[in-house]
Amino acid sequence: MSNEGFRSVLLSIARTKGATVTVFSDFCRIAACSLAIGRREEEYLDTAKAYSRDELSDLSLAFAKLVQEMEQHPFTDLLGPFYLECAAHSSKQARGEFYTPPEISQLIARMTVDVEEVKRKGVPISVNEPACGSGGMALALAQLFAPDSVDLLRITAQDINPVATDMCYINLTLWGVPAHVVLGDTIRMTVTRAWKNVHWHRVGEDQRQALGRLKDLAGSVAQTTPDMEIPQRHFDPDDGRGQFLLNL
Ligand SMILES: C[S@@+](CC[C@H](N)C(=O)[O-])C[C@H]1O[C@@H](n2cnc3c(N)ncnc32)[C@H](O)[C@@H]1O
Repeated sequence: MSNEGFRSVLLSIARTKGATVTVFSDFCRIAACSLAIGRREEEYLDTAKAYSRDELSDLSLAFAKLVQEMEQHPFTDLLGPFYLECAAHSSKQARGEFYTPPEISQLIARMTVDVEEVKRKGVPISVNEPACGSGGMALALAQLFAPDSVDLLRITAQDINPVATDMCYINLTLWGVPAHVVLGDTIRMTVTRAWKNVHWHRVGEDQRQALGRLKDLAGSVAQTTPDMEIPQRHFDPDDGRGQFLLNL
């Protein structure tokens, strides 16, 4: 088994385990939980209990192979196409889902964001993907910022399908993109679960947003009490590295 890619390992598990799409979904759940800095332990255990020790070892092997394959194909979504292939063979999961081909995603990314301008300013940009699928469009955008400016991105990616959010979380986390992945219905504006990845925390995005809100508040206070001196120069919410100094 060791000379095969992640797809072959999963197909081999599915031969004795059941539907490939179920094995693939469990693989993504286990991988996403493993990358979730200890915040999805219950889900991990709940999913893993359906597998024997040998099968779990094979799932680990599949993950190692996925990482190797991703290194050979930077910022390429390897999960989405395999998922669509598996789902197409499963009447239960065949939802007629289609993901945008990478070439189109790259074109849209180039047309949407002036990457050189963002890099020149050095100020992080927030991007929302309301129906992210496996995150192919976000990956195409991140590739434009690679290798040294991916930290300027703050991607919020949402999807109604939990397999999609797991795939997206894996893709963005393994490629170092600060991301907030939301499982929910974008049209009804409902959120079932949401996960900020390790890169989101690494760049201090929550603190940056909090300081931005504080700055807005200080601005409103300054408007209502014009005589009060507000030390606005101490707020720097545009510092994307998360190194904020609050010298009030
Ligand atoms: C055509 S795919 C596009 C995925 C991705 N944006 C791309 O371009 O490859 C549409 C996605 O929207 C998701 N979706 C459908 N209805 C949704 C809703 N109400 N809220 C959030 N996501 C939804 C589906 O699960 C699917 O992943």
